[in-house]
Amino acid sequence: MSPIFLPNEQATLDFANMFSGCLKKFRLPENGLTIYLDGDLGAGKTTFVRGVLRGLGFLGNVKSPTYSLLEEYYLPCDLTVQHFDLYRFSNPEEWTDAGFDDLDTHAIRLIEWADKGGDFVPPADMDIRFTVQNTGRMVTINALSNLGKDLFSQWHISLGEN
Ligand SMILES: Nc1ncnc2c1ncn2[C@@H]1O[C@H](COP(=O)(O)OP(=O)(O)O)[C@@H](O)[C@H]1O
Ligand SMILES: [Mg+2]
Repeated sequence: MSPIFLPNEQATLDFANMFSGCLKKFRLPENGLTIYLDGDLGAGKTTFVRGVLRGLGFLGNVKSPTYSLLEEYYLPCDLTVQHFDLYRFSNPEEWTDAGFDDLDTHAIRLIEWADKGGDFVPPADMDIRFTVQNTGRMVTINALSNLGKDLFSQWHISLGEN
């Protein structure tokens, strides 16, 4: 997909909200879905997660898991979102040490700094990359599995509708 320009924070939230609409309609398999959120510090990854959670009906405060490593959300639409931030990992084994292999797998995993977890991290179905461009952000989506491609095609349709 060609990159999309998001001129301000609200544009990131709107984009994420559109994505959450697709997630609600999507039939989540038993093993869930894994999305890597890539980009430098301050690129807008956590903002995107905030928009997804709002779109899925979460009304509370969305904290960045920079220190907690994981925030879990049990949503009114019956979906579970696991928001990871592995930035503070000093080695990939911390994934196992943190007990992340024992989490519920029927969940939407949104992972910041997935590369810090190496091979311990489930492979991505989709990769969403944010880059700073002037005062806004560019976002690029890559579908990496059949599941990711299914979701991407639904998202692409909803982008076209707007
Ligand atoms: N499209 C955008 N244009 C300009 N600023 C944005 C955009 N999206 C998010 N931001 C801002 O970027 C800052 C850092 O965002 P954050 O989501 O915490 O980044 P990250 O999680 O990638 O470190 C926030 O102040 C947020 O308001
Ligand atoms: Mg963040």
